[in-house]
Amino acid sequence: MRPAFLALSLFACLTQAAPYKAYNFSVPIDHFHNETRYEPHSDGVFDLRYWFDSSYYRPGGPVFVIAAGETSGEDRFEFLSQGIVTQLAKAYHGLGVILEHRYYGTSYPFEEVTAENLRFLTTEQSLADHAYFAKNIVFPGLEAHDLTAPATPWVAYGGSYAGAQVAFLRKVYPDVFWGAVSSSGVTAAVVDYWKYFEPIRNYAPADCIDSIQTLTDVVDGILIDNPDNTALHAQLQAAFGVSPAIDNTDFAFILQNPLGGFQGRNWDPSVGSYDFRYYCDNITSPEPLYPPNNYTSLLPKLLSAAGYDPTDKALVASLRNQIGYVNGTTPSSLIESKTAKKSTKAAKDSLPKDSTTSWNYQVCTEWGYYQGGATVPPHIRPLLSRLIDIPYLSSFCSSDFGITTPPDVDRINKHGGFNFSYPRVAIIGGAADPWRDATPLAQGLPGRESTDSEPFILIDIPGEHVWDGIRGAVHHWDQNGLPEERGGGVMPPREIVHVQRQIVRFVGGWLREWRDGREDSL
Ligand SMILES: *[C@@H]1O[C@H](CO)[C@@H](O)[C@H](O)[C@H]1NC(C)=O
Ligand SMILES: *[C@@H]1O[C@H](CO)[C@@H](O)[C@H](O)[C@H]1NC(C)=O
Ligand SMILES: *[C@@H]1O[C@H](CO)[C@@H](O)[C@H](O)[C@H]1NC(C)=O
Ligand SMILES: *[C@@H]1O[C@H](CO)[C@@H](O)[C@H](O)[C@H]1NC(C)=O
Ligand SMILES: *[C@@H]1O[C@H](CO)[C@@H](O)[C@H](O)[C@H]1NC(C)=O
Ligand SMILES: *[C@@H]1O[C@H](CO)[C@@H](O)[C@H](O)[C@H]1NC(C)=O
Repeated sequence: MRPAFLALSLFACLTQAAPYKAYNFSVPIDHFHNETRYEPHSDGVFDLRYWFDSSYYRPGGPVFVIAAGETSGEDRFEFLSQGIVTQLAKAYHGLGVILEHRYYGTSYPFEEVTAENLRFLTTEQSLADHAYFAKNIVFPGLEAHDLTAPATPWVAYGGSYAGAQVAFLRKVYPDVFWGAVSSSGVTAAVVDYWKYFEPIRNYAPADCIDSIQTLTDVVDGILIDNPDNTALHAQLQAAFGVSPAIDNTDFAFILQNPLGGFQGRNWDPSVGSYDFRYYCDNITSPEPLYPPNNYTSLLPKLLSAAGYDPTDKALVASLRNQIGYVNGTTPSSLIESKTAKKSTKAAKDSLPKDSTTSWNYQVCTEWGYYQGGATVPPHIRPLLSRLIDIPYLSSFCSSDFGITTPPDVDRINKHGGFNFSYPRVAIIGGAADPWRDATPLAQGLPGRESTDSEPFILIDIPGEHVWDGIRGAVHHWDQNGLPEERGGGVMPPREIVHVQRQIVRFVGGWLREWRDGREDSL
């Protein structure tokens, strides 16, 4: 999930949502009256939204809570109806719960979103919400049972940002959360996250990566190496249908949009995107896939200006096909955001009440993750323009929120960052996940022994087991599952079946440990 800024959002196309009933639970706006950063403090409360599924619950069973993370909790319904948490609930007669994150969905402490009202949107306040919920919730219809922690074992599951959250929950509130499964959990906050593109470079088909790198180099050869030739810049943009010309970095940003398709892949065709594969097949085609137009004759000239052979027919076709692909697939909202006149808002102004605003705020204050090309080491040919740098990518922090200091990543990394580990926290991730290098499974780190207490699992899947033919699992591929009615035909790749079995097994061990501990203390 990599639209411009909601860096961690998930499936582009969610299918039919299961009909869970929404409930609210009242939580304090401000859990930390001792911390000056939240001044002026608040004594208020607000409604945190949640949903639950008791179809498999039997008295005495555990609670499996899905941290919804940086989106509406409704977007997580399928993880309750048919994913790994469903399997866990079935196996151990547990209650499945989705808990919405503060400042997402309907769980807002304030009617109006302003930079000032966003001050209670921090990771630690959200963690405190989760702990408060687990300690105090009485589920409607299940009033006869004490399902609060620690009387009942709570195991938290989260993917991506929520994967980091559940790992932290277990470590910060060990008496509340008995265990946590952190899938693609980004436990390390990283300001300059150029490595987002490294798993793509390493796992996408080699011919496709070579084409992306060459096409990027053509653009940079024109825009960066000919800094004063504005007529040439305008011709390049016009060839892509962008006329009159816009800011060169805005233009380069539009061109990297197809890379987001890599993260949008999934082993289940009904939730995954084939777009990255289409992009590869377009730009590696040696023949033009699109008809000539008024600008086609410019292409050899542009290649020549960038230092490439203008008579190389395959390269001309690749450029033509990139143009056709970008022209046909770029969302109009992206074009509009890059061509509209930029306005500077005062920090007190009302902001859109949506996930993008909230996640952007978290990015600016604590998480970073700016994904640029400027700082890619010189020996690596980047997948996106070197014009795209951190000042460019982070400019919304000052324009939207009046924030001019870098994110305080220490507030996240104090929990361990890449070294994060804790008993009964499972670290799971995909080999080709663009977020891998913000997790303990990052490329280049020493591996760890996987144990039942601290499972450490990298999912790698050969291309022939994935419907789009691209090797390696991406973002929390162990989380989703198939609805029962589709179970007959489509099967998950055996690697997914295997990791889900492992999860069910080691969580079972954790729950036995809990019961044994109870019996010992009686
Ligand atoms: C939950 O709270 C929100 C915000 O206060 C409100 O809009 C919504 O109607 C409430 N939902 C339920 C089911 O009570
Ligand atoms: C505020 O309280 C929390 C525990 O509730 C504690 O972890 C934190 O260190 C305290 N902060 C200060 C500044 O004392
Ligand atoms: C973009 O697509 C439109 C509609 O198919 C087409 O008319 C136009 O020529 C294309 N522009 C470029 C630069 O390919
Ligand atoms: C090129 O990309 C378009 C848009 O995604 C897609 O419809 C088409 O099938 C692709 N062509 C090839 C040869 O893959
Ligand atoms: C292409 O060029 C022809 C001849 O110069 C012109 O009439 C036509 O409007 C142009 N088409 C576009 C889409 O620019
Ligand atoms: C992470 O652990 C390694 C090996 O134990 C150690 O060398 C390194 O300093 C640790 N890094 C941090 C940031 O704690």
